[in-house]
Amino acid sequence: MHRYLAYYLSFFNLRKFSQQDSVSDIYCMFDTSQYNCEHNHANVELLMSVLLGGVVMHKIQHQLHTDHYHLQRLLNCLSHEIGCYDFDSKQVPDLDIILSALDYLRTYPDKWHHPSEDIIFNRLLNRKVKVSKLIKQLQIEHEKIILETKKINELFNSVADDCIVSADELLTGAKKFIELQKQHLNKENEFIYPLMNTEFSEKDWREIEKEIKLQDDPLFSNRSKKEFDQLYRYILDMEESRST
Ligand SMILES: [Fe+2]
Ligand SMILES: [Fe+2]
Repeated sequence: MHRYLAYYLSFFNLRKFSQQDSVSDIYCMFDTSQYNCEHNHANVELLMSVLLGGVVMHKIQHQLHTDHYHLQRLLNCLSHEIGCYDFDSKQVPDLDIILSALDYLRTYPDKWHHPSEDIIFNRLLNRKVKVSKLIKQLQIEHEKIILETKKINELFNSVADDCIVSADELLTGAKKFIELQKQHLNKENEFIYPLMNTEFSEKDWREIEKEIKLQDDPLFSNRSKKEFDQLYRYILDMEESRST
């Protein structure tokens, strides 16, 4: 075992993981609520490289994995805000944060993450992998997710415009939307992402690179201009408050 591994496993309370677990397994099992500051998130990246035992992921594969990790964090926060529409909730929902989160989903995951996956999934379909049926289902879900994000965004924009929308409609619609996103992500983590390690050679990645151009994540990337700065601070504060 790598000399740093035991330290990081205990640090993240991830003792159930072993070096035999694939990076997808580990991402899949992350309980993001355990990470409470930016420093810890940087360490997640280090943990990944340690667990991979020096295997270097292609930058596109790495970005897709990272997107899933970030998406889980965003969905946790969105879930919390949506929960404030619950009849029993004593907290007032922050509409700006909800709209910003939905705006981000339309700006980056819907425009880069899902279309990039479609390109990779098509390549896996050409290989006639055993999970082809699931891959086709996930591609249909991409279309559904993009459509549902647009619809739920319109619904919350109506609230911002003071149109009458029932709390029940908001709560039910948003909960279904978050569940769709989470289930989709979990299926990819468990059944499809590991195939990128077993099916793709360096040559495959060189060809994929011609079709997929990396883009900066406008919420989580250090290089972005932080148009989602308020949302980013909100996510960090929420994670910190949950850990204390
Ligand atoms: Fe997807
Ligand atoms: Fe995905």
